[in-house]
Amino acid sequence: MFTIHPLEVQDLPAALELWRRAEGVEIAEGDSPEALARYLARNPGISQAAFVGDSLVGAVLAGHDGRRGFLYHLAVEPRFQNIGVGRALVERAVTLLEAQGLRRALILVAHNNDSGADFWSRRGWEDMDFARPMGRDL
Ligand SMILES: CC(C)(COP(=O)(O)OP(=O)(O)OC[C@H]1O[C@@H](n2cnc3c(N)ncnc32)[C@H](O)[C@@H]1OP(=O)(O)O)[C@@H](O)C(=O)NCCC(=O)NCCS
Repeated sequence: MFTIHPLEVQDLPAALELWRRAEGVEIAEGDSPEALARYLARNPGISQAAFVGDSLVGAVLAGHDGRRGFLYHLAVEPRFQNIGVGRALVERAVTLLEAQGLRRALILVAHNNDSGADFWSRRGWEDMDFARPMGRDL
């Protein structure tokens, strides 16, 4: 019913529109179309999109820094949830990260996103209680 393809620059407007509507996905700095295009160019073929016909119904950003893999912005169009789209997007991205020699990947889940956290937990992603995420604007 759905197909999974690498997320391409031309898919970004539809992906951004999906991410903006998705509860639990935070659009932040680094999410302008130009910055996202740069991210895709740095990490070719790893971010994934799900399509039903010509419509983008799911997307995940994925890449790595040579040491750790990172997944961001996983979202699936509500009416296509619970049929395996999210799982397929994550499995494809993780397989590609493994193929690049990566041995660990990280995600950030918002504190108030319990259903998102459950989705990851059921697939073996661990809470990292020994660390707290920190950041600063550059
Ligand atoms: C989290 C999210 C991406 C999951 O996407 P999804 O496409 O619904 O996920 P899946 O369909 O692969 O899996 C969800 C459930 O669907 C069910 N399911 C999966 N494949 C199925 C199938 N073929 N038939 C019937 N049910 C199925 C399973 O019960 C699965 O539950 P499990 O986690 O116990 O395995 C989606 O809910 C979403 O977009 N949420 C809002 C944004 C968000 O929170 N993103 C995460 C940010 S960290």
